[in-house]
Amino acid sequence: MSIAKRVLMRAFGRPQGVLGRLGGVIMARMNQEIAARAIELLDVQPSDRVLEIGFGPGVGIQLLAGIVSSGLVAGVDDSEEMVEQARARNAKAIASGRVELRPASVERLPFDNDTFDKALSINSMQVWPDARAGLREILRVMRPHGRLALAFTRHSGQSKQGLTDVVTTAGFVDAHLVDLDSDFCVLATRT
Ligand SMILES: C[S@@+](CC[C@H](N)C(=O)[O-])C[C@H]1O[C@@H](n2cnc3c(N)ncnc32)[C@H](O)[C@@H]1O
Repeated sequence: MSIAKRVLMRAFGRPQGVLGRLGGVIMARMNQEIAARAIELLDVQPSDRVLEIGFGPGVGIQLLAGIVSSGLVAGVDDSEEMVEQARARNAKAIASGRVELRPASVERLPFDNDTFDKALSINSMQVWPDARAGLREILRVMRPHGRLALAFTRHSGQSKQGLTDVVTTAGFVDAHLVDLDSDFCVLATRT
């Protein structure tokens, strides 16, 4: 891996140390709008059980907590630094029991089968070691007819090419791409 790529991974891909702390601050400022768009596309309801994978500094979690009042907002991220930042940002909602944030990887989600109505991930899938395996694991924890949104900004490095195919081969149906100006989102459903 080149030095530049290693620096980017430490700051944004799987944030660690000083670079990761700084990366979290930058992402919290830059990615709020795409998180809001993804949540809107998922049509999140107050009673939904929602999972965010790779929540980073926790801005999407904060937006979800503002909508979900009787359901649950859960999140996983495999960076200790991001779990710390997101927990600090969402301390009140965590204390109230509406939000639960765990250090975990998408390959092994710490939840039972058929737990969530909605799942989302923003600018994260492009750095998972095996995107299809991660998507299959998300499918496992989603309820029948549950909806998935995978959103990406133009800075993510994720290509649109073949994206809906990856989601479909993981077992989701009705995978389709939605263009959001220069960003984009794939929506899909569990049968
Ligand atoms: C580019 S950041 C995006 C953060 C946030 N979603 C945002 O839009 O600001 C990618 C995030 O995905 C997390 N991540 C990377 N690989 C992961 C994996 N295998 N499982 C869970 N989270 C992962 C990283 O720790 C990081 O917080």
